[in-house]
Amino acid sequence: MKPFDRTQGKRVFSGIQPSGDVHIGNYLGAIKNWAESQDEYDNIFCIVDLHAITVKQDPKILKKKIREIAGLLLACGIDPKKSSLFVQSHLAAHTELSWILNCFTPMGWLEKMTQFKEKSEGQACLSTGRERASVGLFDYPILMAADILLYETDIVPVGEDQSQHVELARDIAKRFNVIFDSNIFKIPEVKIKKETARIMGLQNPEKKMSKSSELAGDSILLLDSPDAIREKIMKAKTDSFNEVNFDKERAGIYNLLVIYESFSEMGRGDIETKYEGKGYAEFKKDLAELVIEKLEPIQEKYNKLPESEIDKILQDGAEKIRPMAEKKIKEVKEVIGLG
Ligand code: AMP
Ligand code: TRP
Repeated sequence: MKPFDRTQGKRVFSGIQPSGDVHIGNYLGAIKNWAESQDEYDNIFCIVDLHAITVKQDPKILKKKIREIAGLLLACGIDPKKSSLFVQSHLAAHTELSWILNCFTPMGWLEKMTQFKEKSEGQACLSTGRERASVGLFDYPILMAADILLYETDIVPVGEDQSQHVELARDIAKRFNVIFDSNIFKIPEVKIKKETARIMGLQNPEKKMSKSSELAGDSILLLDSPDAIREKIMKAKTDSFNEVNFDKERAGIYNLLVIYESFSEMGRGDIETKYEGKGYAEFKKDLAELVIEKLEPIQEKYNKLPESEIDKILQDGAEKIRPMAEKKIKEVKEVIGLG
């Protein structure tokens, strides 16, 4: 199989963890944008199983989830003819570069990462949480930097929660280039779609919708049944104001409106006009039907995809980009004098 040539335009790289269930925050904040801009860029999308094991995983479930996420990405419109889709652990270059970058990144940079602080804070007190967290969880952003820097990435489209990690990848690349007086790493740009950068939980609209939320009904999953979607939306936390308009101060209804806006692709003014004088219940009913209508074709496509086809696409994806990753590792080893 031929490696990519760079005549197709800028390169996009992004990743998603195969842990938990994919929700509409992942879809609206990341996957939908990846699918929509495929024609414009040269795309690589990665299922980051090595990132997933930074927290506890059940081996059988993890393996199943890798295929499930791959199937969902394909069902959401990621087209293997336009994009390379692969599993991170299939290419050893990711861990190899990650180790090398470890040796050139100050600990202090990682200590500033808010995601590590949040994820390790699960325990009663911060110091205990940190002591129990794996070294991998601390090191997570370096592996992410390796993912990005291996492929001369120009653009990294992600939700807002990942912007600090992309910023770190930029800093690591710049520092490495300065230390070795080379241009070995391209400096990537983060790309965040403002409107959907942070879809919030339905039960706790102060926190982002997340794969690890323990609140029942907090996340709408891409594979939720129509009844589950109706129930979650009807029970979503709002306020007693009962006026359907985009007011950031009213986090619950604002979040539901953002979800409506991005699925319907209607303008904010038109949405507010449509619901003038109508209450939350009517709006929520319409929102539920809209989400069901938009997720139905994705679920239908997903259910028809044979596992053997998914495996083949993942294998082909890895083979297509392997030469690029190996070339970069060779160059890196050369500049630092390894081997
Ligand atoms: P993850 O679930 O951490 O693997 O995230 C996969 C992609 O979805 C990343 O680009 C995240 O930034 C994005 N994402 C995750 N949760 C949300 C959310 N609640 N709103 C918007 N984007 C999100
Ligand atoms: N850390 C990202 C997340 O949880 C996933 C990820 C891993 C990623 N490697 C990446 C995203 C490289 C963009 C680029 O969402």
